[in-house]
Amino acid sequence: MKGFLGRILFVALACGVLIGGTALTAAAQVALTADDCVKCHAQQPAEIDSNGAAHKTDIDCQACHEGHRPSVANNIPACSMCHEGTSHYEVPECMACHNPHQPLDVALSGEIKAVCETCHTGPGEQMVASTSMHAELACNFCHADTHGNIPDCVACHSPHSETMVQNDCAACHQAHKPLELMYGEDTGSALCASCHDTAYSQLAASKTKHNQVACVTCHIDQHKTVPKCSDCHGEPHAAAMHAKFPNCGDCHSTAHNLNNWPGQ
Ligand code: HEC
Ligand code: HEC
Ligand code: HEC
Ligand code: HEC
Ligand code: HEC
Ligand code: HEC
Ligand code: HEC
Ligand code: HEC
Ligand code: HEC
Ligand code: HEC
Ligand code: HEC
Ligand code: HEC
Repeated sequence: MKGFLGRILFVALACGVLIGGTALTAAAQVALTADDCVKCHAQQPAEIDSNGAAHKTDIDCQACHEGHRPSVANNIPACSMCHEGTSHYEVPECMACHNPHQPLDVALSGEIKAVCETCHTGPGEQMVASTSMHAELACNFCHADTHGNIPDCVACHSPHSETMVQNDCAACHQAHKPLELMYGEDTGSALCASCHDTAYSQLAASKTKHNQVACVTCHIDQHKTVPKCSDCHGEPHAAAMHAKFPNCGDCHSTAHNLNNWPGQ
């Protein structure tokens, strides 16, 4: 409560004393306007003023606080007075996250998942379809502190090599299904090299045309896909020869280390 005027008003409100010979009746209390509140309450008007969002622009104090002591004992509204009809409006403890006077300054504490899923169904569905240890974490374990916050993978994990950076992670991983290892055709071979050094160095040293082919051109789309030579080459030699030697590797060695015959 601030100031002398406020104190007088309060005394008038609380005790119904005479002002200028007139009793401050219930009727006069009804005449309180939203402009009066700040005379006695500093904090809530200041919060609404700076951060009230729609609670500032669409409604005023009295839309929520109907009446006042002493004539009305409890003037605290239920959120459901105005918010109804979606699953989000049915979760418990609205004010664990929302301060009604700055409703969009959402506080995220504890472990939150179900409430996030009242609006975002995708991430949870992905985690069920492709399970991983991420699925066991609360949403705000990663999306911490402020709503909408997106963390870097490298805040929690080391990259697979010294040259790999945060922007590379998405080439192979998706946050909500990190074990579904898919990649696009523009994924550089150096990224694979962080774990497959032998394959990478053999190919780099090869003097055959496979040297010019990216890892993902052969191992397409999904990690651990292994192609057959004939997927790309068919059976280029005489049929009798292929019948006799069904393994291309009998003559050509491996894809990463093709025999480097003269003339090839
Ligand atoms: C004359 C001073 C004064 C004015 C003006 C005033 N209030 Fe209050 N208000 C008080 C005091 C004092 C209390 C605390 C009463 C208590 O704790 O017993 C209070 C309590 C409240 C509460 C807490 C709920 C409750 O019943 O304890 C709310 C909400 C409230 N006021 C809203 C408003 C709103 C909205 C306005 C403007 C429309 C307003 N007040 C105007 C003095 C005032
Ligand atoms: C959207 C509805 C809404 C609006 C608009 C609103 N309030 Fe509130 N107010 C609440 C709710 C809900 C509470 C109870 C908060 C709690 O329990 O933490 C509350 C609590 C209060 C309290 C009591 C604080 C306490 O700690 O006991 C005061 C005083 C108050 N409001 C004043 C105001 C004033 C002044 C305005 C306008 C500037 C205003 N409110 C606008 C919903 C609203
Ligand atoms: C007197 C009616 C009323 C009450 C009570 C009320 N609200 Fe609201 N609230 C509104 C209106 C009107 C809007 C703007 C339209 C909408 O989003 O529905 C709004 C919007 C909001 C927003 C979005 C703000 C924005 O700018 O987008 C949040 C968050 C919110 N309310 C939370 C709450 C919570 C939490 C409570 C209970 C503590 C509550 N409201 C109580 C009327 C109310
Ligand atoms: C666990 C935290 C949490 C709880 C509990 C919670 N909310 Fe929310 N609410 C949020 C978040 C996060 C947003 C999104 C805010 C944004 O868009 O910036 C939100 C948005 C809103 C909005 C604005 C968007 C919309 O869909 O209209 C309203 C209104 C709202 N909440 C009302 C409520 C009500 C009413 C309750 C209680 C029945 C409640 N909230 C409980 C976290 C919560
Ligand atoms: C009431 C609905 C609502 C709730 C509850 C809610 N959100 Fe949101 N969220 C939104 C909206 C609306 C956006 C803005 C979407 C946009 O900008 O495209 C958003 C944006 C986000 C974004 C950023 C998306 C981007 O592309 O930048 C993340 C991350 C997010 N929410 C996570 C969460 C988490 C985690 C929770 C639970 C703690 C949560 N949300 C609760 C409605 C909600
Ligand atoms: C292990 C950390 C982690 C967990 C747990 C997590 N997220 Fe995310 N989330 C991220 C990262 C990182 C991104 C950014 C992904 C990107 O850029 O592709 C993201 C993106 C998002 C986005 C925006 C893009 C989109 O996919 O719509 C939303 C919304 C979101 N998360 C909501 C959630 C919800 C809801 C949960 C809980 C069910 C959750 N997240 C759990 C790390 C996480
Ligand atoms: C806030 C911390 C956090 C963030 C951000 C995060 N993770 Fe995780 N991640 C974990 C935790 C905790 C585990 C569980 C295993 C552990 O302790 O390492 C995990 C596990 C994993 C696993 C193994 C899953 C399993 O089931 O074996 C992969 C893969 C992974 N994270 C990739 C990523 C990627 C990619 C990103 C960014 C899109 C990311 N993580 C963002 C915390 C995080
Ligand atoms: C070129 C593809 C690729 C890129 C880019 C990539 N990863 Fe991975 N990541 C994998 C593969 C494949 C595995 C599975 C390895 C296994 O099965 O042991 C894996 C496993 C993981 C794991 C779980 C196993 C472990 O090592 O702890 C984490 C965590 C992880 N990656 C984080 C990241 C982060 C963070 C980034 C970005 C800096 C990233 N990854 C970039 C392919 C990639
Ligand atoms: C985080 C380390 C990691 C990264 C990055 C990685 N891999 Fe792997 N890869 C592994 C592991 C671990 C195995 C399993 C090795 C085993 O079973 O002996 C594997 C196996 C493979 C296999 C063999 C499957 C089989 O059946 O023998 C292929 C092919 C493969 N990876 C291709 C790639 C390609 C292409 C890339 C780049 C897009 C890549 N890997 C990136 C760790 C990784
Ligand atoms: C994803 C397609 C693909 C797969 C799978 C593949 N290759 Fe190739 N191969 C190529 C391309 C592209 C070239 C270069 C063709 C050109 O430039 O004329 C090539 C060239 C060759 C050459 C000629 C090399 C030279 O330097 O002239 C031989 C031999 C060869 N491949 C054998 C194989 C064998 C054996 C396998 C299986 C172990 C295999 N290839 C798997 C795409 C593939
Ligand atoms: C021209 C097609 C081609 C290219 C390019 C290629 N591979 Fe392979 N890779 C194969 C084939 C075919 C096999 C099966 C074994 C064989 O016949 O050579 C294989 C096998 C593998 C294996 C499992 C067996 C082993 O040798 O470890 C891994 C891991 C692998 N490749 C990773 C890679 C990586 C990483 C790159 C890029 C540096 C790469 N490959 C480039 C075709 C290719
Ligand atoms: C009995 C040994 C032998 C077998 C088995 C064999 N090749 Fe060859 N291949 C050769 C020789 C020798 C050459 C180089 C001579 C030439 O240019 O004709 C060659 C050349 C090639 C070339 C490059 C020249 C061209 O035709 O473009 C490709 C591609 C090739 N082989 C693919 C394959 C594939 C795929 C298989 C398995 C389906 C296979 N080879 C099986 C011996 C073999």
